[in-house]
Formats: sequence, C-alpha cells, structure tokens
Amino acid sequence: MWSTILPELMSITVFILTTLCLRAGNSPSYMQDYAILSLNTTGLKDTFHHNTTAGLPIHDVYNLYMITTCSGYYANNSVPPLVGVTCSPVSWYSKFLPSTLLQSDLTSHSATTNLSSLRFPPTIQDAFNERFNLQLHVAFIFYVIALIWVGCVVLWGLCTFWIGALGGFAVLFTSSASTCLLISSAIITAVQSQSTALINDQGASIGLQAGYNSKFLALTWSAFAVNAASSVVWSCAGIVSAAWRGNEF
Ligand SMILES: *[C@@H]1O[C@H](CO)[C@@H](O)[C@H](O)[C@H]1NC(C)=O
Ligand SMILES: *[C@@H]1O[C@H](CO)[C@@H](O)[C@H](O)[C@H]1NC(C)=O
Ligand SMILES: *[C@@H]1O[C@H](CO)[C@@H](O)[C@H](O)[C@H]1NC(C)=O
Ligand SMILES: *[C@@H]1O[C@H](CO)[C@@H](O)[C@H](O)[C@H]1NC(C)=O
Repeated sequence: MWSTILPELMSITVFILTTLCLRAGNSPSYMQDYAILSLNTTGLKDTFHHNTTAGLPIHDVYNLYMITTCSGYYANNSVPPLVGVTCSPVSWYSKFLPSTLLQSDLTSHSATTNLSSLRFPPTIQDAFNERFNLQLHVAFIFYVIALIWVGCVVLWGLCTFWIGALGGFAVLFTSSASTCLLISSAIITAVQSQSTALINDQGASIGLQAGYNSKFLALTWSAFAVNAASSVVWSCAGIVSAAWRGNEF
C-alpha cells in the first residue's frame, strides 16, 4: 500500500538520527561539532603562561560525546574548528573525567605542574563521577532501546507494503520509541545545562570555560519530534488502508 511509504520513510529518518546521536565524535574526523559539552582551557593556559612564561602542556578543548571524549587545539585564536584532535576509544559508558584528562596530559609531558598546584576544583570531577556520567549512560541505554523499537517499526513497515492495514499496529512500537527518545533527550538537555553551569561556576576563577552549541540538541530533539509525528502518520496510514481494503471486499 502506498499510504505506508511516508511513515516508513519517517521511521527510517528517526533510526538514522538516533544512530547519529550515538555515533557523533566516534573518530577525530566524524561529527566533531556535535559535542554534548566542550571544556575550554585556553583561559587557564593563558594565565599559566602569563605567570610562569612556560606553556601548560594540555589541550585547548576537551569534548564530550555519547561514546567518546575527544581533545584538540584551536587552530585560530580560541575559535573552532579544532586541529590535532585525538579521541578516546569508543566506550558504551561515558567516562568524562576532566581532572583525569588534564592530569594525564600533564603526566605524559612530564610536567612538574599538577592539578593541585593549578588549583583545579575537584568538585567538577566529583560531579561527573557521581551523577553526570551515570545519567549519560542511562540516556545511552534509552537510545539503544529506542533504536530497537524503531528498527521493529521499519521491518514491520516493509510488511505493511503488502498489507497496509497492519500499519496501525506500528503505533505500538513508535509510541514506545517516543517515550525512550523523550527520556534520552530530556536527560541530555539537563546534563548539558547542569554540567556547563557547574564548570563555569567552579572553574571560572582559574580560567576554565564550558559551553555547547545547539547541534546535538537539534539532532536528539528532531529524532523525538519526527518519531512522534510518525506515530500519527502510521495510525492514519493504517486507517486509510483498512478503509481501502474494506471497499475492495
Ligand atoms: C575559550 O576561552 C577563552 C578564554 O576564556 C575565550 O576567550 C574563548 O572565546 C573561548 N572559546 C570558545 C570557542 O568558547
Ligand atoms: C597565576 O598567578 C595568580 C596570582 O599569583 C594566581 O592566583 C593563579 O593561581 C596563577 N595561575 C596559574 C595557572 O598558575
Ligand atoms: C582561521 O581563520 C581564518 C579567517 O578567520 C580562516 O580563513 C582560516 O581558514 C582559519 N583557519 C583554520 C585552520 O580554520
Ligand atoms: C603538586 O605539586 C606541588 C608543587 O608543585 C607539590 O608540593 C605537591 O606535592 C604535588 N602534589 C601531588 C599530588 O603530586
């Protein structure tokens, strides 16, 4: 039935958008702009340079993604894009630990400076250890569950090409997926604003700055919105096909 082609395409779009949310930042050249959070240390580096005339061997930016952490340098005075980007191995559990990242940069350059002499606030790492990383992991799980539901819809949708009236049943799957995508998107939105507020509050005095652009939020909320719209279209398609078949027989 032609009526189920539109909702099928919408569900395929949701599947792709959700996959992109999970895959963003999985390599130094892949969707680097879609960070959940960027930690900018150029202020700290500038102060250190000013105080000691030596360079602080840490990266300019540490970016958090769903499955990796990437770090790099601003090519142009504190403005993206980044160069010299390296990413952590892909992990299903977010491991964004700012103190550990900075300290391992310092250690790998055998710097005599350490985090306590930089007066790096320990509360930042504690907050990620205690809640933000866990909350991101919960969001990750709901993305995966959403992908499974949407995958079922897409496969079910192929069957509806022969029996359009089955389209109405896809709503059972799309509404479950909508719930999962809503939960994930809400968690990310909350973690993003709370963690940047915390870093900017605690870290401003030593020159740390955290921020984010709207790209990741746009991705995750459009996955939710397209999926919610597809629920409506799927049920209409089911009704239309059922009525159509009713006329045939
Ligand atoms: C990074 O931080 C520095 C110093 O606080 C600031 O001047 C710069 O605009 C920031 N860069 C970005 C991309 O936010
Ligand atoms: C730079 O010097 C100021 C004043 O002594 C001090 O408060 C600050 O912590 C120093 N910053 C760094 C990064 O060494
Ligand atoms: C740096 O900025 C200039 C002008 O703003 C731009 O032409 C150039 O491509 C930028 N360099 C990089 C590496 O992005
Ligand atoms: C950090 O460095 C300061 C001096 O630079 C030193 O006194 C302190 O013991 C160091 N702390 C750690 C945990 O290594």
